[in-house]
Amino acid sequence: MYSIPNCEEISLSTSLKQLFENVQKNKTVVALLGTNGAGKSTTLRAISGLLNFHNASIIRGSILFDGERIDRLNATQIVQRGIVQVLEGRRLFADLTVDENLRMGAISSRDHVAVRHAYDRVMELFPLLRKRRKSVAGYLSGGEQQMLAIGRGLMTNPKLMLLDEPSLGLAPFMVQQIRSIISEINARGTAVLLVEQNARMALTIASYGYVLDTGKVALAKSAAELLQEESVRKFYLGLHEGEERSMATIRQHRPERRWSI
Ligand SMILES: Nc1ncnc2c1ncn2[C@@H]1O[C@H](COP(=O)(O)OP(=O)(O)OP(=O)(O)O)[C@@H](O)[C@H]1O
Ligand SMILES: [Mg+2]
Repeated sequence: MYSIPNCEEISLSTSLKQLFENVQKNKTVVALLGTNGAGKSTTLRAISGLLNFHNASIIRGSILFDGERIDRLNATQIVQRGIVQVLEGRRLFADLTVDENLRMGAISSRDHVAVRHAYDRVMELFPLLRKRRKSVAGYLSGGEQQMLAIGRGLMTNPKLMLLDEPSLGLAPFMVQQIRSIISEINARGTAVLLVEQNARMALTIASYGYVLDTGKVALAKSAAELLQEESVRKFYLGLHEGEERSMATIRQHRPERRWSI
């Protein structure tokens, strides 16, 4: 247990620990859903060691990965253990090329052979990136940038990839491509914890899903069951009384804040 003064204090509930155990045990795609401000990104940052970049820290709870406690490690050490987070909003180096961005993804790795293999795999997975290897990242389309952000994450050969809203702002056909890529990444052996407001996209590739509400797990079920759950259909799929809500409307729903874990 530790805390930094003047810092936002994050508690990890037992249910979030169970979620993390589930992701590790099943090595599938697990979806983490929730409205704006539910604590989805915070949960991912707690796992990846990025909380301190957001002036927050874990004051209660611990995180085990491969039997080792990782909640006191820094972000680089966590990447070396096999966990990588692909941030919301892509956060690429806009002035660098596709190749340079990918190389940045492997900056903490000293195993050149593994990096070369990872690079070849990224090129195989993303033929679009192969074509644009020498292009500056800032000139790529939104979908290509998301592919590059995911590709950069793959450069560390992760055992677990944490994806924060990869479909955000993308056209429907691009969302479908990202969806297939996530399935493919999982099929090649990387577990995926997928944060999404696009519940339909997430629950159709995930085996299991969790709905987060003010930092606590409100629902935990198989993805198939969650797709049938009334509250999920109403709030996250917009399927209420025959009314189809757009993703923009769904994103605007912000619950009351009650952080009691
Ligand atoms: N377990 C927690 N305890 C206390 N505060 C928390 C906890 N989880 C999240 N918060 C706080 O709630 C706020 C919103 O959290 P966060 O950005 O993680 O939500 P989100 O679900 O990712 O929302 P969005 O959909 O807008 O991206 C942040 O200020 C965060 O620090
Ligand atoms: Mg978020």
